[in-house]
Amino acid sequence: ETSYDAHFEVWRGDVDGGGLEDFTVEVNEGEVVLDIIHRLQATQAPDLAVRWNCKAGKCGSCSAEINGRPRLLCMTRMSVFDRDEIVTVTPLRAFPVVRDLVTDVGFNYEKARQVPAFVPPPDLGPGEYRMQQEDVGRSQEFRKCIECFLCQDTCHVVRDHEENKAAFAGPRFLMRVAELDMHPLDAAEEAGHDRKTAAQDDHGLGYCNITKCCTEVCPENIKITDNALIPLKERAADRKYDPLVWLGNKIRRR
Ligand code: SF4
Ligand code: F3S
Ligand code: FES
Repeated sequence: ETSYDAHFEVWRGDVDGGGLEDFTVEVNEGEVVLDIIHRLQATQAPDLAVRWNCKAGKCGSCSAEINGRPRLLCMTRMSVFDRDEIVTVTPLRAFPVVRDLVTDVGFNYEKARQVPAFVPPPDLGPGEYRMQQEDVGRSQEFRKCIECFLCQDTCHVVRDHEENKAAFAGPRFLMRVAELDMHPLDAAEEAGHDRKTAAQDDHGLGYCNITKCCTEVCPENIKITDNALIPLKERAADRKYDPLVWLGNKIRRR
């Protein structure tokens, strides 16, 4: 038999509060959790709020928590659950609820704005950029990010600690700083912005104790901790604790 009735618990409410609502809902072969949410909208809960766009794991809009775990609703197949299991769908916990499954992820846009963009090398014109394939590959991995913010939601530094948010950019944006700091053509430092110092002082790199929860939930399988956060820590530690390394780097660059 390919269709069955599943038991769902979906969080409903708004800024003033809310709770889990029970639903019994039809599931067909090959469906994902977002299909079930859409079926609820079409049948029992027409005003259920959910954010989505692509239904293909590419827009990063349908982020929520399923059985307490940050996931994309459109990439979570119903077949991973037992048929008699209760499937609980709740909004992202680290961000303020707007309504039902929709949260206000403005925190992330604020953090994005705090990372200065790539600074083009002043002595090279368009078409003159040359990079090693290894450097290209590193950027390409980080640029697979779909900005779903599941990593931002899961990181324990901010997940239940609103008070840390002002000082901590979160894994997605520390990864952005790492990408630019490791970019061989980025001229931010020459222009007076030291990304390594900023990582420590402005973006809260020291809060990250490399628990790797961010890496575990990333739907693009980006090795956030190993390939971005740890290398950035190593580079920033050199800068911070060893003035000779810093001076040496300065002199070598001239
Ligand atoms: Fe999502 Fe991965 Fe990007 Fe974090 S790094 S926002 S988990 S795609
Ligand atoms: Fe948080 Fe990832 Fe670091 S979960 S603590 S940013 S390794
Ligand atoms: Fe686009 Fe899920 S709807 S990632």
